[in-house]
Amino acid sequence: MNHTEAAIARIRDLFAENADGHGFDHSMRVYRTALRIAGTEPAADLLIVSLSALLHDADDPKLFKTENNFNARSFLAGQGLSAETTDRICEVINSVSFSKNRGRRPETIEGQIVQDADRLDAIGAVGIARTFAYGGKHGRTPEDSIGHFHEKLLLLKDLMNTAAAKEMAESRHAFMERFLEEWKRETEETATPGSYQGGAE
Ligand code: NI
Repeated sequence: MNHTEAAIARIRDLFAENADGHGFDHSMRVYRTALRIAGTEPAADLLIVSLSALLHDADDPKLFKTENNFNARSFLAGQGLSAETTDRICEVINSVSFSKNRGRRPETIEGQIVQDADRLDAIGAVGIARTFAYGGKHGRTPEDSIGHFHEKLLLLKDLMNTAAAKEMAESRHAFMERFLEEWKRETEETATPGSYQGGAE
């Protein structure tokens, strides 16, 4: 098993209990998207991109009570990677973490790529589904979650670091706008008594 395969096995285990859109499937999509973006950025180190993407939520404070990237570090130590490589990976992970970096642009190209991949997974059809799954788990109504689109998700398209991610964000962003228009139309027509022009109930 190479490092990447081992990381996939590790996060499958780590996120086994998680179904709110921050788990294994999300990490795998971020990994694949990050590799796709990295294919357009020749300076990117693919091992760093791969392992950082796979492990980017392994110490997410929303899910784990770990310190100093404990889950990521203990996995990487078991892989026999050098201290320098381990530090580089943890630096990328921390530069992508909103709680640690407050959404600032990561300094390394690997960090920029993984942040873009993570943000791409927060928009489009996947982003819509994850927003409602996360909201429901935390006691938010669908109406509350709609607010999150305006506060955060509709802003992400303009925050992408790489050219490839900017391009990928376009259709995902357009789909969210269509979804919000349809949401507005349906909720407005059911908000006013007598305004519904459809057939029998
Ligand atoms: Ni993430």
